[in-house]
Amino acid sequence: MNWTPQPTHDGSFTFFSEEFGEAFHSRQGAKAEAFSKYAQATNLAEQADRDALCLLDVCYGLGYNSAAALETIWQINPACKITLYCLEQDSSVPIAAIDLLGDWSIPVQSALQQIARTHFCQTDRLTATLLIGDARQTIQTLQIQADAVFFDPFSPRRCPQLWTVEFFQQVARCLSPTGKLATYSRSASVRSAMLAVGLSIGTIPLGDRHLPHEWSQGTVAAHRWEGLYPLSKMEQEHLQTRAAIPYRDSQLCDRPEHILQRQQQEQQRSTLESTSSWRRRWQIN
Ligand SMILES: C[S@@+](CC[C@H](N)C(=O)[O-])C[C@H]1O[C@@H](n2cnc3c(N)ncnc32)[C@H](O)[C@@H]1O
Repeated sequence: MNWTPQPTHDGSFTFFSEEFGEAFHSRQGAKAEAFSKYAQATNLAEQADRDALCLLDVCYGLGYNSAAALETIWQINPACKITLYCLEQDSSVPIAAIDLLGDWSIPVQSALQQIARTHFCQTDRLTATLLIGDARQTIQTLQIQADAVFFDPFSPRRCPQLWTVEFFQQVARCLSPTGKLATYSRSASVRSAMLAVGLSIGTIPLGDRHLPHEWSQGTVAAHRWEGLYPLSKMEQEHLQTRAAIPYRDSQLCDRPEHILQRQQQEQQRSTLESTSSWRRRWQIN
């Protein structure tokens, strides 16, 4: 695969996937997104005074979410021992990203290089494992209780297999009782899949810079609702529309087109409010 770096607005680089028809990060800033939507949204700075933390990075890609987490934690507590698990299908992505790591601190650069090259990194304060393969299968081998989960697949329309109720069930199993999962997605189907597996959800409020049609930067999920930022009335009503019908993949091995088709058929049969009427009511273009 030929991965050509594409600049984003904060000066950091991302890749574009021809297979999924999408960039790996927001055009507004790949590195900025890793900090605001993942490290901050999972409260890593507040957790960093602990002796040890366990992190799960779902869809590791270039490794920016893991990198932002390591930077955030070690800046506050350089002695914190981190166990990091990363799930990624395509080993060529982290390898291609090695040339783009110059912005990170030296220990983080060297960790990411080693993770990319050997899928493992062991130092006095980091044990990192990169599991290559379909995350629907690799996650089933994990027996962990992560303090933070970075959930960053391509969008639900392009990669529905990683946004299903059944996949969230696996992710929720790997999330500690006090841990937080963060994702850029604010889609109603994603949020209702999280609710369906018993997680509580909150929004990631908009930062200073956002596009006019945006209402949230993403979603945070946890086993407890304490510390979550409540959904607005508009977001709550979104969950009562047809857009909130979740994707399903009972055996965690269906083809994406079947998962999409099943959801579409369920939406057509549904008596819930249409999402276009919700959009009109809230004047969302
Ligand atoms: C949006 S990108 C992730 C960006 C990444 N978090 C970063 O900071 O660079 C999505 C990633 O998911 C990976 N992916 C796609 N389908 C997958 C699957 N079924 N299992 C695991 N990884 C998958 C892609 O190869 C890609 O690297």
